[in-house]
Amino acid sequence: MKSLTVSVAGVSILAFSSPSWAADVQALLNSSDCYTCHAVDQKLVGPSFKMVADRYRGQTGAEDMLASKIISGGTGHWDKDTGGMAMPPHPGFTNAQAKEVANWILSLK
Ligand code: HEC
Repeated sequence: MKSLTVSVAGVSILAFSSPSWAADVQALLNSSDCYTCHAVDQKLVGPSFKMVADRYRGQTGAEDMLASKIISGGTGHWDKDTGGMAMPPHPGFTNAQAKEVANWILSLK
């Protein structure tokens, strides 16, 4: 049990010392308009990225579903929190980029 705790702590330290993929994701989010409507731990126009992570963490297909929502936009999953606002499409994202972002969001705790 002890070694498990240690290795889990090791993983989170790694995650916060920004491995290159996390830096890429931040660059993507900053170069797009995501942070106008989202924050990591606070609801703005859209749900916070942590709310998204809490809802979908561990669900099969969550990464693909979120990636396609980032590219194609959509509505209906957060109406109670957003009053029915839609997430706009981001056709400039490649599937690989959108999946990296989805992965990063799902890793938030
Ligand atoms: C104009 C405001 C706006 C912008 C800009 C925006 N979003 Fe959203 N986003 C929303 C809203 C509103 C929702 C909730 C949609 C719903 O109810 O299904 C949402 C939902 C999401 C979700 C959850 C999807 C789901 O089905 O649960 C993710 C992930 C997300 N946005 C990521 C992003 C990323 C990444 C960007 C930048 C590329 C971005 N958003 C830009 C408003 C925005």
